[in-house]
Amino acid sequence: PQPRPLAGKRMLITAGPTHEPIDPVRYIANRSSGKQGFAIAAAAHAAGADVTLISGPVELDDPLGVTVKHVESARDMLRQVEATLPVDIAIFAAAVADWRVASEGEQKLKKTAAGMPPLQLVENPDILATISHRKDGRPPLVIGFAAETEHLIENAKTKIARKGCDWIVANDVSPATGVMGGDRNTVHLLTRHGENIEVDSWPVMTKEEVAVELIAHVAKTVSP
Ligand code: C5P
Repeated sequence: PQPRPLAGKRMLITAGPTHEPIDPVRYIANRSSGKQGFAIAAAAHAAGADVTLISGPVELDDPLGVTVKHVESARDMLRQVEATLPVDIAIFAAAVADWRVASEGEQKLKKTAAGMPPLQLVENPDILATISHRKDGRPPLVIGFAAETEHLIENAKTKIARKGCDWIVANDVSPATGVMGGDRNTVHLLTRHGENIEVDSWPVMTKEEVAVELIAHVAKTVSP
């Protein structure tokens, strides 16, 4: 039988993009495919965890054996994340939209002689930071992602501190890497030990391999 090092552990994973409505028929989105988050959910389930996957709109089948909650916007995602607590481990792999349209149109925006409609943006809640900074019921292990196109490690170190999470999986998403939407990923795992941040750089792997490796690290940490 397979070893199940995460048996009895509750785990929450976010994945995919979010869609931020402009009006009833239009939205703002990004190029996240959800593949990395879905692969992590599958690997966590295989390791025996009780997994809830909270996903934005993606074109992937729900992983077997995992509870999947489908959401659209960042605010929906935060609500579902909070409703899933308490968990032992939370991994935030979603590419959450940083901004949404301030006042969603109730009707489809029309072309008018007055010209282009202005789109006023407001900031979305930062789900990872919100959960990391919770006084009550903060998951003992909170893991974020940092998708960067430059100064990868430096930006990821700043992010770990600012967001208040324990680990960050940093990946280079420059268009030349093909990571966004692709099947492979080159990542660096940053782990915070008090003031110190340790950086572990992994070779290029498939997103499934990254998921299995990450879950192996999680298992070693939570049930050594
Ligand atoms: O700040 P940035 O978007 O680069 O941070 C990435 C990390 O923060 C990811 O783990 C992502 O899932 C999480 N995040 C979030 N809510 C947001 C923005 C980012 O959970 N509104």
